[in-house]
Amino acid sequence: MEENIKGLVFYVNGEKVVDPEPDPACSLLRYLRKKLQLTGTKLVCGEGGCGACTVMISKYNLTDDKIYHYSVNACLMPVCSAHGLAVTTTEGIGSLKTRLHPVQEQIAKSHGSQCGFCTPGMVMSMYALLRNNPQPTMKEIEKNLEGNLCRCTGYRPILEGYRAFSKDECGMGKDCCKNQKQPVQNGVSVVLQEHDDSNYTPIYDSSQEPIFPPELKVNHEKYHKEYLVYEKDGIKWYRPVTLPEILDLKYQFPQAKIIVGNTEVGIETTFKNMKYPILINASDIPELTEIQNTETGIKFGASVTLSKIEDTLQHAVDTQPEEKTKAFVAVLAILKWFAGKQIRNAAAIGGNIMTASPISDLNPVFQACGVILNVQSKDRIDRKVPMDINFFTGYRKTVVEDNEILESLVIPFSNQNEYIQSYKQSIRKDDDIAIVNSGMRVVFKDQSGIIEDLYLAYGGMAPTTVMAKQTMEQLKGKKWNEEIVKIACEYLEKDLPLSHDAPGGTVEYRQTLTTSFFFKFYLSVAQQLAQRDIGDLKAIPETDLSAIKNPDYNVSQGSQIFEDSKTELGKPLPHSSALQPASGEAVYIDDMPALTGELSLVPVYSKKPHAKILNVDVAEALTVPGVKGYIDHRDVKGNNTYPVAEQDEHLFAIDEVITEGDVIGCIVAESHSIARKARNMVQVGYEDLPAVISIEDAIKANSYLAKPNTRTCGDVDKAFPSCENTLEDEVYVGAQEHFYLEPQSSIVVPKENRELDVYCSTQSPHLTQTNVCDITGLPAHRVRVIVKRLGGAFGGKESHCGRFAGLAATAALKYNRPVRVVLDRDDDMVMTGTRHPFLFKFKVGFSNDGKIQCLDISSYSNCGNTGDLSLAVVDAAVLRLTSAYKIPNLRMTVHACKTNISSNTAFRGFGFPQSLMVIESAIEAVSHHLVMDPLKVRQLNCYREGDRTHLNQIIYDCHIQDCLDGCLKQSDYQTRLGQIDQYNRENRWRKRGIAIVPLMYGVSFEFKFMNQAGALVNVYTDGTVLLAHGGTEMGQGIHVKMIQIASETLGVPCSIIHIIETGTNTVPNTIATAASTGSDLNGMAVKNACEKINKRLEPFKCEPGTTWKDWVIKAHFERVSLSASGFHKVEGLGYKKETDDEVIYKYYSFGAGCSEVEIDCLTGDHTVLRTDIVMDLGKSLNPAVDIGQIEGGFVQGYGLYMLEQYKVSQSGNLLTKGPGTYKIPSVGNIPKVFNVTLLKDKPNPKAVYSSKAIGEPPLLLAISVFFATKAAIMAARNDHGLEGYFRLDSPATPDVIRMACQDQFAKQFPVKKENGLKSWFVKHL
Ligand SMILES: Cc1cc2nc3c(=O)[nH]c(=O)nc-3n(C[C@H](O)[C@H](O)[C@H](O)COP(=O)(O)OP(=O)(O)OC[C@H]3O[C@@H](n4cnc5c(N)ncnc54)[C@H](O)[C@@H]3O)c2cc1C
Ligand code: FES
Ligand code: FES
Repeated sequence: MEENIKGLVFYVNGEKVVDPEPDPACSLLRYLRKKLQLTGTKLVCGEGGCGACTVMISKYNLTDDKIYHYSVNACLMPVCSAHGLAVTTTEGIGSLKTRLHPVQEQIAKSHGSQCGFCTPGMVMSMYALLRNNPQPTMKEIEKNLEGNLCRCTGYRPILEGYRAFSKDECGMGKDCCKNQKQPVQNGVSVVLQEHDDSNYTPIYDSSQEPIFPPELKVNHEKYHKEYLVYEKDGIKWYRPVTLPEILDLKYQFPQAKIIVGNTEVGIETTFKNMKYPILINASDIPELTEIQNTETGIKFGASVTLSKIEDTLQHAVDTQPEEKTKAFVAVLAILKWFAGKQIRNAAAIGGNIMTASPISDLNPVFQACGVILNVQSKDRIDRKVPMDINFFTGYRKTVVEDNEILESLVIPFSNQNEYIQSYKQSIRKDDDIAIVNSGMRVVFKDQSGIIEDLYLAYGGMAPTTVMAKQTMEQLKGKKWNEEIVKIACEYLEKDLPLSHDAPGGTVEYRQTLTTSFFFKFYLSVAQQLAQRDIGDLKAIPETDLSAIKNPDYNVSQGSQIFEDSKTELGKPLPHSSALQPASGEAVYIDDMPALTGELSLVPVYSKKPHAKILNVDVAEALTVPGVKGYIDHRDVKGNNTYPVAEQDEHLFAIDEVITEGDVIGCIVAESHSIARKARNMVQVGYEDLPAVISIEDAIKANSYLAKPNTRTCGDVDKAFPSCENTLEDEVYVGAQEHFYLEPQSSIVVPKENRELDVYCSTQSPHLTQTNVCDITGLPAHRVRVIVKRLGGAFGGKESHCGRFAGLAATAALKYNRPVRVVLDRDDDMVMTGTRHPFLFKFKVGFSNDGKIQCLDISSYSNCGNTGDLSLAVVDAAVLRLTSAYKIPNLRMTVHACKTNISSNTAFRGFGFPQSLMVIESAIEAVSHHLVMDPLKVRQLNCYREGDRTHLNQIIYDCHIQDCLDGCLKQSDYQTRLGQIDQYNRENRWRKRGIAIVPLMYGVSFEFKFMNQAGALVNVYTDGTVLLAHGGTEMGQGIHVKMIQIASETLGVPCSIIHIIETGTNTVPNTIATAASTGSDLNGMAVKNACEKINKRLEPFKCEPGTTWKDWVIKAHFERVSLSASGFHKVEGLGYKKETDDEVIYKYYSFGAGCSEVEIDCLTGDHTVLRTDIVMDLGKSLNPAVDIGQIEGGFVQGYGLYMLEQYKVSQSGNLLTKGPGTYKIPSVGNIPKVFNVTLLKDKPNPKAVYSSKAIGEPPLLLAISVFFATKAAIMAARNDHGLEGYFRLDSPATPDVIRMACQDQFAKQFPVKKENGLKSWFVKHL
């Protein structure tokens, strides 16, 4: 074949892109962002797991003369595969400069965009859906968004916003926003309008969409029928267009990778450092892309995408007899849970089979169904290869030879006497890889009910997909009755053994799943046989059938109830730059265009948790073209250490590394990809030192950051002996990764005269400035930190940012060039710490009527390798510990464990979400012991007005009871309790539980000096107002609230007030935007500044008929300053002698949350059926923003308590480095009914305009989901004779739930300890 290297041609947003020398290693995303400067599409993970990079691809299909539109992850799509295609990004569908697209406008105006980093991806997913289906159902919208993660909003407003495009009737009936000119106030609000909505058209008109580039259609042959070769930097990309061409290439290059979706190969090259010099794109070969009906089934070419397979099989199921399509139904059932839409649109069936992953979802079903593959090579045409027990030959190996390709496969028709099912269990139901999956098929002898053939294939149980050989053999010839379940359980254990240290971990759970799946299969087939009167099966009891119930819940719905406001203050305005992210116009750090001479920096960090550095060899890395140099501790001009709290952190490790992720040096290069490539070449020699990884290790090694700290109230030792009851237990709360979508990012620009500009994604500009000054030795007045917006933070950008800005500053000073550092997701997750894991040991003493008299707690927290903010976090855990409960005698000792994991840090709630677990667990323990409804125990022990907390602070304006009462009423708790009881009696294998939890949250920084803020108000002579304050905008809506406060105080409309950025040059010495105090502190400072302006304008206001603008101009001509700084410090904190009151918190926020959960006892799967929240927010400054915080915080808390498992190996290396392994909640996880009410008529006299803080408290209410789950597990245990209290740790992931249910299947696999073998990951960090 003649190798004629040709250019790459494709269209982006209607414009032709011609690249004569495309790079086969470059992703479409990198091309869009770096070459075309289209930065609307975001990079978050680079592994197809978050959807932030979603774009729409359009392709003309000659066969049916149609144009197909589909969403893909641009981070995984090689730019070379875009040849002849049209790409649409969010910039291509609408702009603030012209007109926004309704899809962009809708997400912004429905408050579906907070930090905005996920927003362009959401927009493009929705847009691609509408291009194919202008009136989707809500289910279709939800399904379509499964591949798009959002860490801020909790998804509800996004779904609600996009409901406007759905053909479904809204749950609100005639009150639906679609029927409203104005938002519904004082009642249910769904879509809330912006200041000026004259241009707002939420109607979607598909005829207005841009047309497909005619040239691509006219020249289809040229673009899709030409053999192409691209080559750059030693990688060759072939695009053959005929079968002989691809067979010839595979003959020449047997090791070449075939690329269709690149969803496997892309991961291997980006994250596993695999190098493939020859890539063969197989997307345009007719035989490989064909779908044909055959006599035996449907034949799919190997390059057919999973989405097309779904459509084709669904059509067959809808149109063909049921008995013929049982395999299709089983494949569809597994495809339902296969990745997100974008991956299914790109990934092909051939890639899934040939990767031969042990957790492939399709292979077990194909193996069970006896799929036959058609395999070809240059010298062996049409080899038929059955996917039988011999197909997989080893880890990621099959009998297909290297020079062969998979051409096609046939998914067979079924017959009347066979039954097929597929199963999959993962941590998160949607878009997650399997823990265990399975395909099962039984064939009966005629109508006898006797097993003729049985095929049981499992994934996740061995290095390959495996068939349970002995079980299959043992059951052949048997009758399909309960007896076979016993035999299967016995033989499945033999067929599918797992050693204690098996990769993947949770071995007992995985083994239990194998038998649980079989039990489900047994029941499902038995039910069908019984329906057909086959065999002599006894009728299966209704309650047992719950094992195979597969409820299809509605898309989440809910209400948001709040008070109306007559002024702009208190109105539900969208946050101040909500529209920009939707159109891709919001500029985050990495969206800033490269400055002249700019360099990129990538850290070289330790791969060991604790080791001596023997040598560092950068020689090879420095030879990579484009590498500027290497920096390490020798380049630091100031100090190699910098303070965060009490203790110093080091910037570069010198002789010893103390955690994985410890920075040893940095590669500085012309681009990020060059720097990353060179970084991977740096060789570091280590000598291992003993490492302390877990809390248990730290206790053994006596490794602590400080002496244990004990706080007491009352006298625990005296009180215990007089208690009628005492109980002791432990509970553990795991780590939580912040998973802000925008990674740690900074650009440092050296200026004249030793000045530095630092653009940084930080919550704490002042601390970042201080750190950079420490590291560079520059004085603060020369270092300006500028923060426009953050793409999420949640505490993770409070103390870590100075470190990364400091690295960039060191390089910027060395090379005298601007330096950009934007961490890749995996680096970010390795190098930065998380929420602190805690182990609590507690003893509780209580009376027979449920009154808690004393509580003694020893807590151990894994703080990681340095101090960071840990001592403050562990202390806050005690300070806030009692939440809403009065515990007269209390002692809590905290141990800050020093370990060799990444340094743990601030995270929304700052220690309280963890300590809440111990207090609520104690409450539950008491209620179980006394057989009382936990609600009663909670109510009995709640604080009342005038009570003193364990810190001796008097509680004024206590609204716990109001919130609880409101929540009880709203949730109809008592009625549902009865319904749940009945449900649980009727369903043996599915259980429900409900829990209601009150909350009291003290608002203030515990360090008194931090309770201060500043602001600057500049009024210009055209009347407009420029506002600056110390808070940073990270999606929580602080800027719009500040604008609303300024508007109220100055008496001018919000539309003339603007905030550009937060900068250390406008408001100095600011306190981090954290601890929910941002609006309180900065709001008062803004008010103070505005009042000064008001006072100065007062003399000019008396003339009748004059306006704000007139006053401003007059003042200017009278030489009155129109610029004022504001300041606020919280008064009244500290000890008050007159009342013996220790005022630590200025006031308290209150709330109550009630959740109902349903679990599948056999798999541990769960669904949150409903959540009701009532929060006391005083007089809300902005109910839409506040409700956004409640919903988003709640869903993040749900992730903490139920889903997010942070895994570290026994050798101290992080295993969860991206969304593929670390699962934050997705759209399918949110409560199916989600109602939020803001308590009415409770103005708060202690904060700005009677409001209350909101950022953190609602996260804690998610603990109601945890305890509802515990109640459901309790019901399951009761059915199996296990009464009473049991320990449940957080997160209650499916394995934890399943194993706690302790039925006969779980009991078969007790936790084993095998000859000193350690589990794959540390269970309790
Ligand atoms: C975010 C994400 C989520 C995922 N979720 C799931 C999931 O839920 N379940 C699951 O099973 N998988 C999942 N995967 C894995 C992956 O998407 C699938 O395996 C997919 O089917 C691979 O197809 P592809 O076209 O992208 O393969 P590619 O990456 O293009 O190729 C994969 C491999 O297959 C070989 N290959 C491809 N075609 C042929 C052929 N015709 N003949 C011979 N060899 C061939 C290639 O050489 C290569 O080694 C996920 C991946 C990602 C990134
Ligand atoms: S950046 Fe592409 S999916 Fe996350
Ligand atoms: S708004 Fe979705 S991640 Fe921030």
